Amino acid sequence: MSDGFSLTDALSGSNNPNPNAPSAPWGNQPGGQPGGQPGGQPGAPPGYPGTFPSAYPGAPGAYPGAPGAYPGAPGAYPGAPGAYPGAPGAYPGAPGAYSGAPGSYPGAPGAYPGAPGAYPGAPGAQSGWPKVPYDLPLQAGLVPRLLITIAGTVNSRPNRFQVDLKKGNDIALHFNPRFNEDNRKVIVCNTMLQNNWGKEERTAPRFPFEAGKPFKIQILCEADQLKIAVNDAHLLQYKHRIRELNQITKLCIAGDISLTSVTPTMI
Ligand code: GAL
Repeated sequence: MSDGFSLTDALSGSNNPNPNAPSAPWGNQPGGQPGGQPGGQPGAPPGYPGTFPSAYPGAPGAYPGAPGAYPGAPGAYPGAPGAYPGAPGAYPGAPGAYSGAPGSYPGAPGAYPGAPGAYPGAPGAQSGWPKVPYDLPLQAGLVPRLLITIAGTVNSRPNRFQVDLKKGNDIALHFNPRFNEDNRKVIVCNTMLQNNWGKEERTAPRFPFEAGKPFKIQILCEADQLKIAVNDAHLLQYKHRIRELNQITKLCIAGDISLTSVTPTMI
């Protein structure tokens, strides 16, 4: 835990049965309301027009000045990073501590344009929900303290879904909840190098996803590992097998879920 986050701390957030509760620290875009899911009664996508992703000012397609486009800007949703100082969360220091790092982007050359917590280069604010399968470019790649928050809902009869962090065609992290593998639920994590899967890690102590239910996944990049929390409770860590973090420049989400928001921020 080279950056000061410990697993113990990570667990301190405890289980939050409602991933989209306003007390949750990150990624609770307006679209995170359970009732506001695709397939429900969407009306205008929650947070429209600046809902998603909200933290990428100046990026292609951004609506400069749109609500939510600039964390902390007028109209920013209160669930935006740092908005609830002291609120409990899956990872320590959140989110009050995060608000102390506006715009920080360790290792990035020069200043990245923008706002507190901004992560550069991603698609800007847009209306509607992210459609699955969904790809998000991570222009600067992974970097310690990058937190990716994914909010969505599991389909009613799910088989599997996956969240992949990719370096070209290689998959640095394949996070793959399976709802029915020989009648068991299991989370499989793995890495794919040159089209070959490595050794699966199946160490998640629980399976926090449920058919038809909303969820929030947080992927926190640290120097040596990725930490994954679901619904504000730490779930697992995955040691980096691909060390060139800055070349892991794509997030791909596919499978039996719908998405509400996908939000990379720096914490
Ligand atoms: C394979 C599966 C892939 C991937 C991989 C992970 O069996 O076909 O989609 O999940 O396992 O190890």
